[in-house]
Amino acid sequence: MRILVTTASRHGGTREIGEAVADVLAAAGHAVDRIPPEDVLAVDRYDAVVLGSAVYAGRLAVSLRDLVERQGGQLAARPVWLFWSGPVGHGGRVTGEAATPPDDVDAVARRIDAREVACFGGQLRSAELGLAERALVAMIDAEDGDHRDFDAVEEWARGVAVSLRGAPPRPAAP
Ligand SMILES: Cc1cc2nc3c(=O)[nH]c(=O)nc-3n(C[C@H](O)[C@H](O)[C@H](O)COP(=O)(O)O)c2cc1C
Repeated sequence: MRILVTTASRHGGTREIGEAVADVLAAAGHAVDRIPPEDVLAVDRYDAVVLGSAVYAGRLAVSLRDLVERQGGQLAARPVWLFWSGPVGHGGRVTGEAATPPDDVDAVARRIDAREVACFGGQLRSAELGLAERALVAMIDAEDGDHRDFDAVEEWARGVAVSLRGAPPRPAAP
């Protein structure tokens, strides 16, 4: 199958999560394109799509939301998975129910009829941020460091690959 993995990431941490997902799907035999959301013109050539975004100030990235705005109908018409990354720190409390979801994730998931929404720990290097972002980060409960769990990411991606085994391929264009 032809799969798009599109990940919104300002500082690279979420992009690397998307790369790990794409690697698992490619290893499962799929043809995988990795394109940032702002460069995705259309999704109709894909059999399935994985969307990912970091969370900034309680919301998904603008580029991801814009893609969903542009291509929501086409996304909803194919199998789609969504992940978000951002929870940073505090005793490993970085995945699952303990993390506060972005305000808009439910609306986005509904709009694209996402099969599943996953949350992964993020990465924060405050010293590399500009003043405005550092001020924003100071307002959230965040710990510097790499809180990403690539074993969890790969396990999730393997689950996506298993689900795709049963999905019908996109009908051939007329
Ligand atoms: C400006 C800024 C705002 C952030 N706001 C949130 C937030 O509201 N909630 C949260 O869980 N994480 C927040 N984070 C943490 C990021 O989501 C996390 O660092 C993520 O891994 C960054 O991904 P990236 O490296 O792809 O940009 C914020 C980080 C930055 C830099």
